[in-house]
Amino acid sequence: MSGQVHETRILLRHAEDPALATIEGYRSYGGYETFQKALKSMEPDEIVEVLEESGLRGRGGAGFSMGKKVSFLPRGDQDKYVCCNADESEPGAFKDRELMQRNPHQLIEGIAIASYAAGAGHAFIFIRGEYDRQADILDRAVEEAYEAGFLGEDILGSGYSLDLVVHRGAGAYICGEETALLDALEGKRGNPRLKPPFPAVQGLYGGPTLINNVETLSNVSHIVANGAEWFRSFGTEQSPGTKVVSISGGVRRPGNYEVELGISLRDLIFGLAGGPLDGHDVKAFYPGGSSSPVLTPAELDLPYSFEAMAEAGSMLGSGSIIVADDSVSIPHMALRTARFYHHESCGKCTPCREGTNWTVKMLERVVRGEATPMELDIITSVQQNIIGHCLCVLGDSMAMPVSAMVAKFRDEFEQVIAEAALARIPTTNGDHGGNGGNGIDGGTGTSDLNLTDLLERERLQGRPIPVSEQESPDAG
Ligand SMILES: Cc1cc2nc3c(=O)[nH]c(=O)nc-3n(C[C@H](O)[C@H](O)[C@H](O)COP(=O)(O)O)c2cc1C
Ligand code: SF4
Repeated sequence: MSGQVHETRILLRHAEDPALATIEGYRSYGGYETFQKALKSMEPDEIVEVLEESGLRGRGGAGFSMGKKVSFLPRGDQDKYVCCNADESEPGAFKDRELMQRNPHQLIEGIAIASYAAGAGHAFIFIRGEYDRQADILDRAVEEAYEAGFLGEDILGSGYSLDLVVHRGAGAYICGEETALLDALEGKRGNPRLKPPFPAVQGLYGGPTLINNVETLSNVSHIVANGAEWFRSFGTEQSPGTKVVSISGGVRRPGNYEVELGISLRDLIFGLAGGPLDGHDVKAFYPGGSSSPVLTPAELDLPYSFEAMAEAGSMLGSGSIIVADDSVSIPHMALRTARFYHHESCGKCTPCREGTNWTVKMLERVVRGEATPMELDIITSVQQNIIGHCLCVLGDSMAMPVSAMVAKFRDEFEQVIAEAALARIPTTNGDHGGNGGNGIDGGTGTSDLNLTDLLERERLQGRPIPVSEQESPDAG
């Protein structure tokens, strides 16, 4: 068990000060000085170089190098765009909400510097529709930034102009996928596009577009102010910097914690989030949001980094840990996860549209006790046929955690099937199991076990029949 574990706050520094959400408050801590310095004394390419050297990896899911992404945008005079992905709709993720709510200008300054580096004249923040309060805060902050001359025409006499628009989404998880986000911004139904071309080449309105997550962009002013080496002094070689981690589920102190990447999962879950409630143990956890394959207590001492999570067969994703304690039924958790992705699938490609639907139906059969253990293999094979066969990774986002749950907790799935099936079978005195029986005797309580019931019992091979049910139908 960990001793005292501390956060390392860069993005959440001064977050407890409500004045930080105003431009005066932000500037009192040195806000917008880096943007001014960049405009005055740095060439865009110089900024791109610092970002690349810093090793900053995208905080929205895939962990791709932010500096590299900016460098992919062509130079030249064509219209270019920067889009900030503030959709944050994945179960377990709530860090962008806090970053925008507490420090909206940190994000705006990051967007302004990234736009200057990319040569973009238009920027957008695409925020999920349900984040009404945060969208209002951003609207106010953008207005303040225009009034102070940090946005608009010829910013601070530099000759550089930038417009920034806050766009509210309509509340679909798929609109967080970068190309669906672009379609939604253009006023279309948010469906993922075929890639390539990637947005850096052909994105919003067909122009080169940089898309980054709220947390990624919030890091930009700090890196440009303090340098790549400073940023690399936090975290690990392959995962530099800090990470705001959302921890939820069966822990005493759920919330957002900013830590150096590479901290142990135990320090995060037990040291910062307080571990499970009294009398409970950790049974499993999603290390990177609901789309990451679950890990078990055996993996609690791994470092929390992009590389270590990948080596463990999972991913860091958006950095959201959901803890399931020992009161949680893993088959029910798998069903809940599958239902979410089935509901959010845009339906454009078959493996995801049909595969999420089949998975939900099969997991429903599991929890109702209608499945056979063999169906667990079919569930696994359906997931294998989804992974890597979809247009975007929403299909994989269901398939990966569901496969991991079936593989790591197969005994529990089999037990749930057996217990639910047993509860459905009428007993000799006509009583039925917990779900009201199977209706064979019409619920009169007078029939004896019939052939169908006996065949049902065959499915429970290997599980003892309770003594009370072992009497022959004639015995009573
Ligand atoms: C279904 C789906 C939903 C996504 N939702 C989000 C989201 O809400 N926020 C986000 O930043 N990235 C999300 N992503 C990842 C984006 O497609 C993209 O990789 C990210 O915005 C890039 O920013 P980054 O490089 O700064 O991480 C999602 C991806 C998929 C497939
Ligand atoms: S994987 Fe699912 S959400 Fe993504 S494009 Fe295909 S159907 Fe749509």
